Amino acid sequence: MSSAFIRSDTSRRADIRYCCGSTGAGKSSYIKADVAADKRLLVFDPDDEYGDIPGIVSFHDGPALLAALKEHKTKPFKARLVQGGQAAFELCNSLAFAWTNCSYIAEEIADVTRVGKAPQHWGQLLRRGRKRAIKIYMTTQRPSEADKTALTQASIVRTGLLGRHADREALARDMDIPIALMEKLRPLDFIEAHRDAQRRVFVGNAADGTREEITARLRDNAPEAEPKPAQKAPVTAKKPANNSVKAPRRNAAQKAGTLKA
Ligand SMILES: Nc1ncnc2c1ncn2[C@@H]1O[C@H](COP(=O)(O)OP(=O)(O)OP(=O)(O)O)[C@@H](O)[C@H]1O
Ligand SMILES: [Mg+2]
Repeated sequence: MSSAFIRSDTSRRADIRYCCGSTGAGKSSYIKADVAADKRLLVFDPDDEYGDIPGIVSFHDGPALLAALKEHKTKPFKARLVQGGQAAFELCNSLAFAWTNCSYIAEEIADVTRVGKAPQHWGQLLRRGRKRAIKIYMTTQRPSEADKTALTQASIVRTGLLGRHADREALARDMDIPIALMEKLRPLDFIEAHRDAQRRVFVGNAADGTREEITARLRDNAPEAEPKPAQKAPVTAKKPANNSVKAPRRNAAQKAGTLKA
């Protein structure tokens, strides 16, 4: 497909959502609800899960999908490729990148990526999709076996119940949350870590619609929030003569200026 109709724009914010959880954790349901209002959608759908999206057109081979996307180069369109394997995955990645201005869903990335290196088009999409207005959703049941570029680039990491300890451990580290929080999850519970400046964390349950921000609580309980003995002022340290606010440190140039005066 020829180049994108939309200009590259570095001011766009990345929207890359990494959704984890064992089978039945609610990953695809969450994504479907989130893209419900989107006009341009492409899905790599090896397990045939997205046929119930209103208006979506199903394709079972690459050339037919390519032709349809060309036809809808700048128009609203929803399409999915119901085919598994790395070739189909990479085709979808390259098509999403060329199509631009769309939401893109990649299902079960652990089947089509490896921990060490992201496949070429997948890496390109993750690193440069933001500038082409591509919102990316991906799912995996096995985050410890999926490629790390995806996790590194994600702007939101969301997890439901994960059955394997290795997965919980790997993800807790990456989400910067205590593993104990992950051990408590029940079906359709979720934890969502936002990789923004505030590093916000939310917990909730998809079935009952609850959602609560726990960022402050997490940080208050973090070990680094407690005073460390090494950081205490030494007993012998001299106190300042008065309680006035300390003057800011002067740099070398300022000191030199003072000396000259
Ligand atoms: N918000 C919700 N409210 C009520 N039920 C839900 C909700 N989300 C998911 N479910 C139920 O949980 C089931 C599993 O959800 P979903 O198919 O999204 O899981 P998944 O994580 O995508 O699983 P898999 O990895 O096997 O594809 C759904 O069939 C649905 O019945
Ligand atoms: Mg699913």
